[in-house]
Amino acid sequence: MKMTRIEKFFVRSPLRLYFQRKFEAPWVLSNLNIGSGCVCLEIGCGHGAGALLINQYLDCKRVIGVDIDPDMIEGAKRYISRPPRWARDIRTDNIDFICQDAAKLSFPDCYFDAAFLFGVLDHITEWRGVVAEVFRVLKVGGMFSFEEFLLGESSRNRWGHVSIGEAELRDALETVGYSIQSFEMMKRLPRCFVRAVKDDYSSKGGVVEWGKYIYPGEGVT
Ligand SMILES: C[S@@+](CC[C@H](N)C(=O)[O-])C[C@H]1O[C@@H](n2cnc3c(N)ncnc32)[C@H](O)[C@@H]1O
Repeated sequence: MKMTRIEKFFVRSPLRLYFQRKFEAPWVLSNLNIGSGCVCLEIGCGHGAGALLINQYLDCKRVIGVDIDPDMIEGAKRYISRPPRWARDIRTDNIDFICQDAAKLSFPDCYFDAAFLFGVLDHITEWRGVVAEVFRVLKVGGMFSFEEFLLGESSRNRWGHVSIGEAELRDALETVGYSIQSFEMMKRLPRCFVRAVKDDYSSKGGVVEWGKYIYPGEGVT
């Protein structure tokens, strides 16, 4: 869902950027062991700083940020066209921002080496569909690294956000076929940092149908 004006104001604020650069990016983007020339996806790219940070931490051939809100996409394009001082040395020529729904990505299967997301799933009612779509577009062995708000184990909305619980998120990732490498909860805030890898499902004899991992022996209904 699109954000309210107040949320957009916050997402574009120096305070948000400060937290994203200082605390979230190191968790989400460092020590990933991803080789140079990687092709990366950012889900819900918002104001555009995430794509710059991906380029700062990784040696990317291409970074594609998607967002459902055309206003955010236009803002992100403007943001990287005149990068702030902290980002002046970061590449921008390999970044594309595309307006699309993360639950219906236009990219082919197995296209990306890695996918990232900073606090987006709680804005999407169909968040499980996004988890499955990212799985579909990742290469086997590809990394999905993200930070997310976990507001609780239910489908109730809180403050207009989708409530996602730790068990639900773990289940959604594993059902689709990821191996969870790490799942860290922050001490005082309902936020998690997750790293999940697209399993080599073929070695287990499974298949992927419509982005969903079908375990060996499990029928498609
Ligand atoms: C809280 S903002 C986070 C923006 C940015 N990642 C950040 O950390 O500042 C959530 C973003 O997700 C986008 N979004 C919401 N639903 C989406 C969907 N279905 N597909 C793609 N983007 C979506 C919103 O437009 C918004 O830019």
